[in-house]
Amino acid sequence: MLIFAHRGASADAPENTLAAIKLALAQNVDGIEIDVHQLDQELVVIHDRWVHRTTNGKGQLSQYSMLQLRTLDAGLGEKVPTLWEVMQLIAGQCTLNIEVKGLKDVALVLALINKAQTELGFKHEQFIVSSFDHHLLAQIKQLQPDLKIGALTASKPIDYALFASTLGAYSVNTDITFLDQAFVNDAHQRGLKVFVYTVDEPEDLAMLYHWGVDGIFCNGPALAKAFVSSISSGR
Ligand code: G3P
Ligand code: MG
Repeated sequence: MLIFAHRGASADAPENTLAAIKLALAQNVDGIEIDVHQLDQELVVIHDRWVHRTTNGKGQLSQYSMLQLRTLDAGLGEKVPTLWEVMQLIAGQCTLNIEVKGLKDVALVLALINKAQTELGFKHEQFIVSSFDHHLLAQIKQLQPDLKIGALTASKPIDYALFASTLGAYSVNTDITFLDQAFVNDAHQRGLKVFVYTVDEPEDLAMLYHWGVDGIFCNGPALAKAFVSSISSGR
């Protein structure tokens, strides 16, 4: 079961910052998940449409210029990073799951993914682009059919993972709340991976491991890794 650091190692460093990414890399994660919004022609790594929860600023992200955004403190003196800065830091050391929250120009993310392969040593298969916006995923898939797509859901659809296979997705990225063995089996029968968020409790990790889930997004990857390796070795 793969361990993805959710918003970086966000239990121990400010979420979606370079510090959280560095910590996740130090913990040897399999992958890192970050949230991305478009601001003008730049892609920035932040979860919310409003800046007050994760920075010392106020108001909507869209009201900020890049220069203004970069003056904000995203926790412990960290700045809101750009997607390119995150890519430079990871530089092919693990998988990068880019969760697209607010994006107008799909080409921007595709261009950075291509540039990261040429300039930073990433392999194409190290990228997953996920979103709750399935229209956006369809657009991405059309432009770049070989890019891995993670179809996000926080529901248990009546036809389980059909929506993800229709999108040509690589994985179903699902909230743990509505997941069950039948959903996992259905996704696997369709050839999809199942990645689950947000999982930090040992009982949940054990349950998902036994259901055959392929990966989890967790805020505390060091603990999750230790726990998963203890179950897999039968200790
Ligand atoms: O990508 C998994 C998870 O991050 C989706 O929900 O709100 O934490 O971005 P959220
Ligand atoms: Mg996310």
